[in-house]
Amino acid sequence: MLTNWMQRMRARMIALLGLAAAVCFTAVACSGGGSTSAVATATGPSISPDLVADYIHTVLAADRTAYTKHVVSRVKKLEGKEKEKGVLNVESTEGWQQTDGIPLPAQMFRLGYEIANESGLFTYGLISPWFINDNHGPKSEFEQTALDAMVASGEPYKDYQEVGGQAYFSAMYPDKAVAEACVSCHNTHPVHLERYPDKQFEMGEVMGGVVINIPVESMPAA
Ligand code: HEC
Repeated sequence: MLTNWMQRMRARMIALLGLAAAVCFTAVACSGGGSTSAVATATGPSISPDLVADYIHTVLAADRTAYTKHVVSRVKKLEGKEKEKGVLNVESTEGWQQTDGIPLPAQMFRLGYEIANESGLFTYGLISPWFINDNHGPKSEFEQTALDAMVASGEPYKDYQEVGGQAYFSAMYPDKAVAEACVSCHNTHPVHLERYPDKQFEMGEVMGGVVINIPVESMPAA
C-alpha cells in the first residue's frame, strides 16, 4: 500500500519537474535571450504598443509645440516676412543652412527623426497627402489608409502592418493647422502652389500626420 503510494508520488513529482523545466525553457526562449531583433522584450509587466505610441507622440508633440511657440514665434523674420512681435534677431527659414537662420518647425522635427530612426528601436516621421518634401508622401498601404481616415475624422488612426517580414504596431496622429502661419506659409509655398493649385488649407484642418512604427513580435491573430 505504502510503496504503491510512494511510487505514485514519485511519478507525479517527475511529471511536475518535467512541466517546470518546460515552462522554464519556454520562458527563456520567449524572453529572446541572445536575439538580435529590435523587438523589445518585456522584463516586467508589459505595456501595450498602443500606449507606448501615445507616450512617444506626447513627447514629440510637446517638443514640436515648444519649439514653434517659444523659439520660432519669437523671431524677427519668418520666411522673408517681418514679424511685428519678434524679439530674436534671426530668421526662421527653409534655407536656414545657407542664410545662418534657424530651421522651420517641420524641418526641426525631421532633423530629430533622422537621428532617432537610426536607433533601430522604432521609427517616426511626418507625412501628408499634400507634401512639400518628397520624403513626406505616404509610403505604404497603411499610411495611405491612415491618412484618408485621419483627414476625414480628425482623429488618430492605429493598426498593425507588416513591412519586409517584420510586424509593426503603427499609429498616426493628426497634425493640424493650429496657427495662421501654418496655413499662410503652406498655401503660398511655391512647391505647394505648383503641386496642389486647388488645395488651400484652412485653420484647424488636418495638414498631415505624425506616424510612429513600433516593431512587435508578430501580427495579431485574425
Ligand atoms: C514659414 C513656412 C512654414 C510654416 C509656418 C509651417 N510650415 Fe509646415 N512645412 C513647411 C516646409 C518648407 C515643409 C517641408 C519641410 C522639409 O523639408 O522637411 C513643411 C512640412 C510640413 C509637413 C510635412 C509634409 C510636407 O509638406 O513635407 C506638415 C504636415 C506640416 N508642414 C504642417 C505644418 C503645420 C501644422 C504648421 C503650423 C503649426 C506648419 N506646417 C507651419 C513650411 C512651413
